[in-house]
Amino acid sequence: MTDLRTTYLGCELKSPLVVSASPLSEEIDNLRKMEDAGAGAVVLHSLFEEQIIREDEELHRGLSAGTESFPESLTYLPEVTQYQQVPDFGVPNGTPDMTVYNRGPEGYLEHVRRAAEAVSIPVIASLNATSPGGWIKHAQKIEEAGASALELNIYFLPTDPALSGSDIEKNYCELVTQVKNTIHIPVAVKLGPYFSAMANFARELDKAGADALVLFNRFYQPDFDIENLEVVPTVALSTSQELLLRLHWVAILYGHVRPDLAITGGVHTAEDVLKAMMAGARVAMMTSALLRNGIEHLKRVRQGLVSWMEEHEYESVRQMQGSLALRSVPNPAAFERANYMRVLGSYRLRSLGSWRTGMASKE
Ligand SMILES: Cc1cc2nc3c(=O)[nH]c(=O)nc-3n(C[C@H](O)[C@H](O)[C@H](O)COP(=O)(O)O)c2cc1C
Repeated sequence: MTDLRTTYLGCELKSPLVVSASPLSEEIDNLRKMEDAGAGAVVLHSLFEEQIIREDEELHRGLSAGTESFPESLTYLPEVTQYQQVPDFGVPNGTPDMTVYNRGPEGYLEHVRRAAEAVSIPVIASLNATSPGGWIKHAQKIEEAGASALELNIYFLPTDPALSGSDIEKNYCELVTQVKNTIHIPVAVKLGPYFSAMANFARELDKAGADALVLFNRFYQPDFDIENLEVVPTVALSTSQELLLRLHWVAILYGHVRPDLAITGGVHTAEDVLKAMMAGARVAMMTSALLRNGIEHLKRVRQGLVSWMEEHEYESVRQMQGSLALRSVPNPAAFERANYMRVLGSYRLRSLGSWRTGMASKE
């Protein structure tokens, strides 16, 4: 019998298929479907730092009614309780209304409680944050509500030219340390790919106490509407092409940092999951694939995984984890550059004519 078990954030999971944070996890019924379809764990949609700060401020304002002490701080925060409506999202029927995305800090705690009761797989709560601060104490309540672990999605856009890369990295590490000092459950850190020295930064996050690194956040870049001169929010679902960046970094980091490695971004098929495992990930997370094809898609991916492993005589997922990682290479930097040169060198133009018409291709 093929053994799909893996360990992640201190839990043994029955499979490496994890559902990453999305509106799908807003419905308890969906969580049950995910478990039935073979998910090893599920990450809930995020609660945002701004929501907690806002609630604290409103509470404080209520207590000191009439003082009008901090009106501006209440208006600069984005309306994060209402998720941006996405025009054509490809969400199958029966998934939740995208315009009402989550329930605020108190509602979120109740959701964590109900989720933890509803399924027997680990429920990982998610906090979306940018900065250390008093709001972090809310993480304790999430722990008390029954989350098996917390995923900290640090989503910071460094638009201030005065802010250096090292300042930003310090800020991330301080945030992780504060959260770790506040709760006892494991903490995963979900990151974007835009750091100049990812391997070093991963080590710093390791020192700060991160129990897992979730690579990588996708950045939702707004588009321009050139007719109406407007900046418009867009959310496009991923394709398997996005997996490559994640494979690359997980293969590099595997064996060099203590935190578990998780891949999010571009996992759509059984083959993608196999690649993630071979790179060295403990789990492969999915959102776009389930939004596009429905939760049942997990079953197909699980079945594909088992079939491939049987055919290739793999007994367990653990056996393949890290088999394509770079740790056996003494000088990964040299390996990477050599590879880069080989790839560029392997590109062939079909003919001068096709080049002119833009139809060059790999041979
Ligand atoms: C509609 C939508 C909502 C999302 N909500 C969250 C969220 O609340 N918190 C979070 O950390 N990531 C969120 N994500 C990001 C996903 O968890 C995932 O990391 C990302 O989509 C990349 O994985 P994929 O290629 O499987 O979609 C969301 C993604 C989508 C498409």
